[in-house]
Amino acid sequence: MKILITGGCGFVGSNLAVLFKQYYTESEVYCLDNLSRRGSEINLQKVLAAGGQFIHGDVRIKSDLERIPKVDIVIDAAAEPSVLAGKVPGELENLIDTNLNGTINTLYFAKKHQAAIIFLSTSRVYPYDTLAKANLETTPKRFNLSNDQTFVGISQQGIAENYPLEGLRSLYGATKLASEYFIQEFSNNFGLPAIINRCGVLSGPYQMGKIDQGVIVLWMAKHFWKGRLGYIGYGGLGQQARDVLHVRDLFRLVQWQIVNLGLLKGQIFNVGGGLENTVSLSELTDLCSQITGNDLEIGSSFENRPGDLPIYVTDNGKITDFCGWKPEINISTLLNEVHEWFKSDEASLKAILS
Ligand SMILES: NC(=O)c1ccc[n+]([C@@H]2O[C@H](COP(=O)([O-])OP(=O)(O)OC[C@H]3O[C@@H](n4cnc5c(N)ncnc54)[C@H](O)[C@@H]3O)[C@@H](O)[C@H]2O)c1
Repeated sequence: MKILITGGCGFVGSNLAVLFKQYYTESEVYCLDNLSRRGSEINLQKVLAAGGQFIHGDVRIKSDLERIPKVDIVIDAAAEPSVLAGKVPGELENLIDTNLNGTINTLYFAKKHQAAIIFLSTSRVYPYDTLAKANLETTPKRFNLSNDQTFVGISQQGIAENYPLEGLRSLYGATKLASEYFIQEFSNNFGLPAIINRCGVLSGPYQMGKIDQGVIVLWMAKHFWKGRLGYIGYGGLGQQARDVLHVRDLFRLVQWQIVNLGLLKGQIFNVGGGLENTVSLSELTDLCSQITGNDLEIGSSFENRPGDLPIYVTDNGKITDFCGWKPEINISTLLNEVHEWFKSDEASLKAILS
């Protein structure tokens, strides 16, 4: 098996690369990355140590992809993954060029080699302006989705694939949804096996968490290195909640998808931690304090961030019905692994994460 992972030194890409090399020692894993995400140079060392091959390149540049040999499978994990990206001058072009044009360049590469493509899309394709109107139940520690909802595709179990797409979704979400459309068209017109995984929050070791992306690791890092944190919006109590999927659970799913590519042409799946692995910021604070032994005083600000949501939960029903896949790793285990990762490489990670 020959695999190209674009963004192969990012959080998801490097984890998948290392796991592929561990599980399939004979596989050839090419990781293309422009190392633009701070910390990806640290993940690169993990990829190389596992036996992956690094290609310094940029998905915005078609000829960079042309340098790569024929592969069987492409995993598209190169992105500017921040939901806030695009508003600052200069960011917008990079966002669209990387997330949309980069995916189109990757599709040309897949078409040339008749390779299958697995795309890491996002829950952010679902519009925030309608999701923000979801009926909630509130406890002192968290928001929950009520079972009484007005839209189709949303229940206490979370958001399903038939949730209506009309509405605003952020510039980031728009680049990912537009990419999905091109993937489906390439799949249909040129016979490429393609799978679209609309992921909720993913986390685990090698995630270089920052304020606008990778909140689980950011929260843990601020506890570990005793930094500053704040609950932003929704009353400032940290009740906003997300489901969280460990990247190793994602790998188990990708393993199954690769074996079953023929069944799955152009299919879209919501993929996330699900209701059982949903955590609020306030609960996350408790878990991080328990694990690190450090209590932080968390600040508050009352103004909601544009495009933010009080809660998002992935309804994994479709993929679970399809193949039985379910998340297996809980949030506490995930945080403990992140804690061990910090301790194993404290000096270099401190400069990036503290
Ligand atoms: N992490 C999450 O919670 C999450 C959730 C949903 C979807 N996703 C999707 O998963 C994918 C991977 O996300 P991640 O969390 O690993 O992000 P990441 O930022 O850790 O990794 C992305 C990698 O892409 C590289 N990159 C950026 N621009 C590039 C370019 N023009 N050419 C080549 N490489 C480039 C970066 O250097 C980085 O190593 C993305 O497509 C993202 O949209 C992530």
